[in-house]
Amino acid sequence: MQKVAVITGAASGIGRGLAERFAVEDMRIVIADIEEAPLAELEADLKANGATVLAVRTDVSNAAEVENLAARTLETFGAVHILCNNAGVVCSRPIWEHTLADWEWVLGVNLWGVIHGIRAFVPRMLTQGDACHIVNTASILGLVGGSGEGIYKVSKHGVVVLSETLADELAQKGADIQVHVLCPGWVRTGILDSVRNRPDTLQNTEMETLPRQETIGGSRNVRAEIEAGMSPAEVAERVYNAIQTGTFYIHTHPEHKAWIRERMARILE
Ligand SMILES: NC(=O)c1ccc[n+]([C@@H]2O[C@H](COP(=O)([O-])OP(=O)(O)OC[C@H]3O[C@@H](n4cnc5c(N)ncnc54)[C@H](O)[C@@H]3O)[C@@H](O)[C@H]2O)c1
Repeated sequence: MQKVAVITGAASGIGRGLAERFAVEDMRIVIADIEEAPLAELEADLKANGATVLAVRTDVSNAAEVENLAARTLETFGAVHILCNNAGVVCSRPIWEHTLADWEWVLGVNLWGVIHGIRAFVPRMLTQGDACHIVNTASILGLVGGSGEGIYKVSKHGVVVLSETLADELAQKGADIQVHVLCPGWVRTGILDSVRNRPDTLQNTEMETLPRQETIGGSRNVRAEIEAGMSPAEVAERVYNAIQTGTFYIHTHPEHKAWIRERMARILE
């Protein structure tokens, strides 16, 4: 049976890499994104390569739109086997300077987007009864503390613990749904230009928009790290392998594990 994979934030970066990788496996692909032009471009590219594709313009921060994505998927293909809650945005400045609009935007996409995905798709997967996988995109920043990217880290820590809880509860229920949490390091994508998708209703009115802070801990140049980062295709390969092997935590950069150890040691001390 041809599997059905749903990917949010599919029009660019890691999401596009996942869509292309799953298409190689002859899956039917549902691509969702807030950005219409690159979504249409991906749809055309995948179809030109022979894939069966459904593109649904979706703002993942909106519960009704994610519900519509799930409904359209089931109406069109009759099933769902892989859900990648992948859409994400970032904005960065000292955490006390963030505006309410910053908090609402970043938590809305990165955390609520995953929550809406779980609420819309898990009940349908349970009813369907087939073997399913859910891949939630967190980040290495969902596993560490320190300065920089404050709201982003809050959102990604939320995605990690949400995924851990979901995995345990589904296992306790005996459901054939495996959960995976993707925690990439630097990947060559459009993430630092997230502001392109910031809605008009969540623009900053409380203060001038500050220049984007592009350092972590004041020492790293994140833009340079990302430009030199892993390719989305390589990340997608790791995700595909993790699905095959049933791996829960998907790491991309083993050297970043030292940051996790350091945080855990501080907690335990
Ligand atoms: N690039 C990295 O170094 C890196 C590292 C760790 C985690 N991540 C995570 O990977 C995921 C994918 O990001 P990426 O790096 O490929 O960046 P990207 O900007 O290339 O892709 C993100 C996609 O999400 C879409 N999107 C933004 N807001 C949306 C919304 N409200 N609804 C639906 N779609 C929306 C964008 O249009 C875009 O296509 C994100 O969750 C990000 O936090 C990225």
